[in-house]
Amino acid sequence: METLRDIVLYIHLIGFAVLFGSWLVEAVARRIRFTPLMTVGLTIAAVAGFALAAPWGIDHELNYVKITTKLVVLLIIGALLGIGGGRQKRTGSVPPAMFWAVGVLTLLNAGLAVIWR
Ligand code: HEM
Repeated sequence: METLRDIVLYIHLIGFAVLFGSWLVEAVARRIRFTPLMTVGLTIAAVAGFALAAPWGIDHELNYVKITTKLVVLLIIGALLGIGGGRQKRTGSVPPAMFWAVGVLTLLNAGLAVIWR
């Protein structure tokens, strides 16, 4: 059970890496746009995150205030990708504030995960 939980955590981290990595590639290249890979990463992190939100394979309490905060942040990122992606299709561009918010909120969630115990 513990090993299985570690594997799910590993998958969760892969989702984070795919989301943040694909965002960073665009940011460094100064391309203010969303790519499908960002949604793939978010989906992987979300599915694995939900599995980790249940208390199995551990012998300590989960911090549900933290987990709920992370869920809210994830939903905001999803809304930004959805709304911004829609605009990108219609007008060819994403509002820069939406693009930068996705990177900042992704890092915020990783920070919450690691720093808030
Ligand atoms: C963009 C979204 C997310 C990012 C970047 C992210 C990032 C991370 C990272 C880096 C860890 C490893 C922390 C550690 O083991 O010290 C982690 C663990 C974890 N995440 Fe996420 N996460 C996200 C979304 C979610 C969501 C939506 C949930 C649940 C609804 C969730 C639940 C958890 C749980 C339960 C753990 C296990 C460690 C703990 O209890 O804190 N995560 N996350």
